[in-house]
Amino acid sequence: MKAIRFAQHGEPTEVLSVEDVPVPVPGEGQVRVRILETPVNPSDLLYVRGYYAGVEAHFPAPTGFEGVGIVETVGQGVKDVAEGQRVSVVNGPGGNWAEYAVVPAGELFLVPDEIPDDQVASFVINPASVILMVRHVLAVPKGEWLLQSAAGSELGRMIIRLAKRDGIRTVNIVRRRESAAELERLGADVVIVSTEGPIDEQVRRMIDPEGVKYAIDPVVGETGTQIFKSLSEDGRMLVYGSLTREPIRIGDDPRYILAGRRTLEVYWLGYWLPRLTDAQREQLSRDIADLMREGIVETSPGRKYSLDQIHEAVTQAEEKGRQGKVFLVPGNM
Ligand SMILES: NC(=O)c1ccc[n+]([C@@H]2O[C@H](COP(=O)([O-])OP(=O)(O)OC[C@H]3O[C@@H](n4cnc5c(N)ncnc54)[C@H](OP(=O)(O)O)[C@@H]3O)[C@@H](O)[C@H]2O)c1
Repeated sequence: MKAIRFAQHGEPTEVLSVEDVPVPVPGEGQVRVRILETPVNPSDLLYVRGYYAGVEAHFPAPTGFEGVGIVETVGQGVKDVAEGQRVSVVNGPGGNWAEYAVVPAGELFLVPDEIPDDQVASFVINPASVILMVRHVLAVPKGEWLLQSAAGSELGRMIIRLAKRDGIRTVNIVRRRESAAELERLGADVVIVSTEGPIDEQVRRMIDPEGVKYAIDPVVGETGTQIFKSLSEDGRMLVYGSLTREPIRIGDDPRYILAGRRTLEVYWLGYWLPRLTDAQREQLSRDIADLMREGIVETSPGRKYSLDQIHEAVTQAEEKGRQGKVFLVPGNM
């Protein structure tokens, strides 16, 4: 079968290649899935570059953490999944950028038939994170302001729609003014452009001189530093990404943190998913499916590429202002 692999960390266009490898055989408790579509997510590219602490690559390393596929063969002892079933495939060690992947049956998500493949392909990583961060980790109360950066990302758009639905007001930071009108159409209450002045000054002028109590940030660096400065007393900032990979400073004055009881917390789905009980996982899956049917946690599909076009796909995935999620289609397109 064809599979994307890399023999060393580096720029994705330099180290990723299409290889001919044996079709993997499922062991006990595992299934083999024929991959229909698999997204190019920021985490996949961080992993290839060697910046994805938490998952170690064993070379030559397969890659691709998410996707949709059809169960083709089940290993011994597998009960709850049948051959021919369509499933959402979260592949913890990576390996979905291939025609087939083998994963533990217990890590599959069974998704209702009426949800289209493009949505099942991105069923877990962004939708689960949006629900867990907003409703469970920060548990933002109705009526509060939630500040977020990279608001034009697929995940950021889900946050805007979920917040609107749950009665939370959003302040959305983008790096390009052109993104603002579209985010307002989705339900963004306020859009701030990071290049138009310090974020904390814009927040205190436009929202509240005291600052905001809840913030989430996948950008870090100077953006993250300015977001921390936008927090009110008892404010909580949740860092969930590293788009700039630059350091974040949490307050130039330690008294601002101590006396104001401002905190920085972190969120990583790779930590949360394995710790959910079966009942919590099933509830999360139902919540994602329900919110997907409502269009709240839906992904906008962007361009689709074959495995042979891997270099074009990873380049397009990181283009500034890209529209929609880039997908790889391992079989016939
Ligand atoms: N912690 C977790 O478990 C977890 C789970 C899911 C996702 N995430 C993180 O969530 C983030 C969004 O994921 P996604 O799939 O929604 O991404 P996406 O659709 O690919 O969007 C990426 C967005 O980031 C913006 N961006 C890229 N580099 C930037 C920079 N240097 N400064 C400011 N903005 C920048 C882009 O802005 P433009 O529109 O201007 O190009 C774009 O809107 C990623 O960091 C991802 O790793 C984390």
